[in-house]
Amino acid sequence: MKMNRKVKKALIFGAVMGAAVGILITFAAANKAVDQKAAVMAKTESKLKKENKALEEKIKQQKTIEAAANLSKEGADNWELILVNNQYPLDAKYKPELKEISEGYSVDARILEDTKKMLSDAEGAGLKMHLVSAYRSPEDQKEVFNTTMQDWINQGDTYLDAYNETKKSVALPGHSEHATGLALDIVSEEYQDLDDKQADTEESKWLAENCYKYGFILRYPTDKSDITGIVYEPWHYRYVGKDAAKKIMDKGITLEEYLGAA
Ligand code: DAL
Ligand code: ZN
Repeated sequence: MKMNRKVKKALIFGAVMGAAVGILITFAAANKAVDQKAAVMAKTESKLKKENKALEEKIKQQKTIEAAANLSKEGADNWELILVNNQYPLDAKYKPELKEISEGYSVDARILEDTKKMLSDAEGAGLKMHLVSAYRSPEDQKEVFNTTMQDWINQGDTYLDAYNETKKSVALPGHSEHATGLALDIVSEEYQDLDDKQADTEESKWLAENCYKYGFILRYPTDKSDITGIVYEPWHYRYVGKDAAKKIMDKGITLEEYLGAA
């Protein structure tokens, strides 16, 4: 039977349209499936990231606990022997009770008398001490760190080099013992530069020789940077109590070594 031409055309048109709609529906369904799969994958990825972060946090806590357990019992029991360095952060909640030692400079109230005595005895010996830094809040430390880093960048260092260079002389924010109120930067009034030549001043020599009598140690001695993580700082004194100070200075060791954390 011969089909009318118009009917034949209509039938072909219908078949083509049907196939096109079918293809479109298949594509839409496939797209939906892909979208659903992508959503599931994104969810899984985010879950994994969260789990990973939690795991990292747990490992970090575990390391801190293990590190603390390695410290001598003496260190764990005495507030004066608190260890703060780039490996041992200071608890963010640590807030010492402060007392002003001179205008704009405060220390932990418990070391005020010893610190005053050290400075007045030095004065009595004809020396002129100049205080550069005492208690610094973690925010102040951030400021010091950023300013020092910017200085390195201005001198042409890359960001990474500037960061690494700064870390050698300025503790990371949250890792500075200046935030304990137990550390002081003291220089000679005549020579105030924070460099190795500070060690040649009479004030610096007197401090290095006498600091232990008042409970202080030279915290970052020369040739001990591999242990302290900080370059030689002949101006940075740290209160550790008279007993520990005498032992540390006599033996020529660092606080890390004294506490068994080196
Ligand atoms: N300069 C010492 C390491 C500090 O920033 O605490
Ligand atoms: Zn200092």
